[in-house]
Amino acid sequence: MDRKNIAIIFGGCSPEYEVSLNSASAVIEHVNNDLYNTILIGITKEGEWLRYFGEADKIRNNTWFEEGCNPVAFSQSRSIHGFYEFSEGSSSITFVDAAFPVLHGKNGEDGTVQGMLKLAGIPFVGCGILSSAMCMDKDIAHRIAQSSGVRVPISISADRTMLLQDIFNMAETLRYPVFVKPARAGSSFGITRANSRPELEKAILYAFEYDSKIVVEENIDGFEIGCAILGSDNLILGEVDEIELQTGFFDYNEKYTLNTSKIHMPARIDKVTSDRIKNTARILYNALCCTGFARVDMFLTPKGEIVFNEVNTIPGFTAHSRYPNMLRGVGLSFASIVDRLIRMAMEK
Ligand SMILES: Nc1ncnc2c1ncn2[C@@H]1O[C@H](COP(=O)(O)OP(=O)(O)O)[C@@H](O)[C@H]1O
Ligand SMILES: [Mg+2]
Repeated sequence: MDRKNIAIIFGGCSPEYEVSLNSASAVIEHVNNDLYNTILIGITKEGEWLRYFGEADKIRNNTWFEEGCNPVAFSQSRSIHGFYEFSEGSSSITFVDAAFPVLHGKNGEDGTVQGMLKLAGIPFVGCGILSSAMCMDKDIAHRIAQSSGVRVPISISADRTMLLQDIFNMAETLRYPVFVKPARAGSSFGITRANSRPELEKAILYAFEYDSKIVVEENIDGFEIGCAILGSDNLILGEVDEIELQTGFFDYNEKYTLNTSKIHMPARIDKVTSDRIKNTARILYNALCCTGFARVDMFLTPKGEIVFNEVNTIPGFTAHSRYPNMLRGVGLSFASIVDRLIRMAMEK
C-alpha cells in the first residue's frame, strides 16, 4: 500500500513558536511511518515557509532552519493539492494527502492556516476555520459559551480604537482582582492579574502589546479543570484533569516548568462532578463547532459551579502535555491519538 503524504506544519509567526516546536517534534516522533510519509514544513518566526528534511531533535532545539531547507508555497489550485518547492533555481510540486498544523496561537491556531488549507482542498487535522477563529478570540468564545447555557466570567472587551480612559473606567466596573488579557493570544502571554486601578491601567497597556483587542474578566475562585476531546461525531472524552496552583495564576513559566503548580490527572473530584464537567465540555465543544480535537478549559468553583475559561483548538502536544495525558486516562496512547487524528482528517 502506498504511504500517504502527511504535511506536518510547525513553528509559526506567533509568540508561541517555541511551544509549537516542542509539540511538533513529539507528534513527528509518534507518526506511524508504515502508513504515513511525513513531510515537514517549518514556518520561521518571521513567517517564512520552509521544507525541512532533518530529525525532530533539531526542531525541538530550534536549529532546524540551519541546514538545507527549501522555500515552499502552498498552491490554491485543487489540482495541485500540495505545494511548490523551490531549489537551485527550479521548482517542483509535492502532492499532500492531508496536513497536520501543529501550530499554537496567532497565524496558525486561529483559522488562518486552516483557511489556506481549505482553499487548497487539502484535508487537515483539527478544527475548521470558523471554530478556530471563534476559539482564538476569548471575547467571541465567551459569547458563544454563554449562549449555550454555560456560565462565563463577567467581562468587558475593548479595542485600540477606544479611548484608554474609557477602557479603564469600563474595566473598573468589575470587582478586583481582574484578569486582563489580549483577546487573541495563548500560553498566558500578555496576561496580568490586576488588584488596583494603577495595576489595571498598566495591565491594559501591556495586553495591547500583544493584540489590538483585549478582555478584562472577573476573577473566578476555585480551581482550573480541563477536558480533552477527540472526534467530530462520536466524541471520545478524556479524564478530567486539575491544576493545583500555589500562588498567582497559570502563567507561561508555570505552564512549562510546573515549578510550584501541579497537574492532577485525574482531577481529585468525585465521579458525579467529573461527569458534569465532561458534559459541559461536550456542550462547549459542540457550541464552538469544534471538530477533530480540542482541550476545553474550565473552572470549578468552591460551590461546585462550572465556569468556562477557553477552548484550545491545537492544545499543547508534547508527550507530557495535558491533552494526551487526559486521553491516556481513558486508554489512548500518544501514537494512537496521532493516528486517529490523521485518519479523521483523511476521512473528511
Ligand atoms: N477569570 C479568571 N479567573 C481566575 N484565573 C484566571 C482567569 N482567567 C485566566 N486565569 C488564569 O490565567 C491563566 C491563563 O488564562 P487563559 O485565559 O487560559 O489564557 P491562555 O490562552 O494564555 O492560556 C489561566 O490558566 C488561569 O490560571
Ligand atoms: Mg489557557
